[in-house]
Amino acid sequence: MVSVISDICQERGHQTVAYSSGAKALENLSAQAPQLVITDLRMDKVGGLDILRECRDILPGTPVILITAFKTVETALEAMKLGAYDYITKPFKVDELQLTIQRALDNQSLVRENQNLRQIVKEKYRFENIIGTSGKMQEIYNLIAKVADTDSTILIQGESGTGKELVARALHFNSNRQHQSFVAINCSALPENLLESELFGHKKGSFTGAVADKAGLFEEAELGTIFLDEVNSMPQPLQTKLLRVLQERQIRRVGDNKTIPINVRVLAATNEVLGEKIKGGNFREDLYYRLAVIPLEMPSLRERPDDIPLLVNHFLQKNANQTSTEIKKIDPKAVEMLSAYRWPGNVRELENAVERACALCDNGLILTTDLPPQVVRHANAPVVEHTGTLPVGQTLDEYTREVEKAYIEETIKFNAGSREKAAKMLGISMATLYRKLDLKKPATKK
Ligand SMILES: Nc1ncnc2c1ncn2[C@@H]1O[C@H](COP(=O)(O)OP(=O)(O)O)[C@@H](O)[C@H]1O
Ligand SMILES: [Mg+2]
Repeated sequence: MVSVISDICQERGHQTVAYSSGAKALENLSAQAPQLVITDLRMDKVGGLDILRECRDILPGTPVILITAFKTVETALEAMKLGAYDYITKPFKVDELQLTIQRALDNQSLVRENQNLRQIVKEKYRFENIIGTSGKMQEIYNLIAKVADTDSTILIQGESGTGKELVARALHFNSNRQHQSFVAINCSALPENLLESELFGHKKGSFTGAVADKAGLFEEAELGTIFLDEVNSMPQPLQTKLLRVLQERQIRRVGDNKTIPINVRVLAATNEVLGEKIKGGNFREDLYYRLAVIPLEMPSLRERPDDIPLLVNHFLQKNANQTSTEIKKIDPKAVEMLSAYRWPGNVRELENAVERACALCDNGLILTTDLPPQVVRHANAPVVEHTGTLPVGQTLDEYTREVEKAYIEETIKFNAGSREKAAKMLGISMATLYRKLDLKKPATKK
């Protein structure tokens, strides 16, 4: 039987090693590390189940096919429960054996591929991909390592572009929920009613446009993680609903009376200090404490200028990978300029600047002339100094524009993300607001 099966396999182009006793096979299993194991179930001393068990221990993922006499089919079924891939009863047809072998190998390559993909996703969010060696970043790594593998709710605070989402993903992909979904939603992107139905789902007919029952993101994230980005912009009534969900661990779809229990880890991010909003009555204090079980504060790039050269290198490398080109070199003077800039848009702005420079530069070398104008202007400005409360050294035009922009952004935040309300409060038109923010006005909806 051993040599017959061996021949069948070799005919199909497989290499085989044959043993006529279970004990011999067991002895050589780890050295051979086969892709597939075929074994009889009933053998002297060491039987098929022993082989199966050993395979599971030392060669996980290697399929085991059992050959069995008709009488022992029940044991074979038992063996399947123990993790055998399949079984074949004697006497069998050659075709049948070949088909089973092929299926086992195909299935195994799918499993491998899946593991690879998971590994790639995981690699992408290893902490090692969060760049920075400054003390502030060390604190972040330590905290992530401590809290990733818990179910605690974490509130990540920090200016826009400081890496809040990156950290949220690192937390998920280093938790025991890593094989389940990571669902992210930006709470400032949708008006209240749509956001509610997006988060919690809705019942058919609960509002115009609700043409079918729909599960919300909380249900989609079941057993995984939901990331509530810019939670600071969540409208008040929804804050109340979210608080209830966090307390009761169950949701209710819009227009439905039924409650659905959920097992979801909640991560949230805010790009403004919630203390101010709470004082102003714009954010529920009790929700804040629910979310900030563990608060994590991302430093701005200004607070860790020593990390800038590291980040620049990281982004040069990333750009080379994405464009399949050589890693661009950079003039040390350009690095100096990048390190001196204040980066109001933090790491995101720096990443964009490096990407832009990679596209603009000649001969694979980035020079200061390839840097964004605001960076160059800052470097060439006759020393910006803080003598009083204001920085000095910019042109009046530059300074006015910067202040205007900051003030408009602040007003939009105050109005829970509504640009219309902000424009009204500021006494300017929407067109002016968009112009001053350097944004394109969106096409008006018909
Ligand atoms: N410490 C860091 N190391 C490497 N890349 C970073 C780091 N922080 C942010 N980034 C990158 O900057 C961009 C913005 O980060 P993101 O997490 O979206 O910021 P936020 O959510 O705080 O606005 C992303 O492309 C991210 O990969
Ligand atoms: Mg973000």
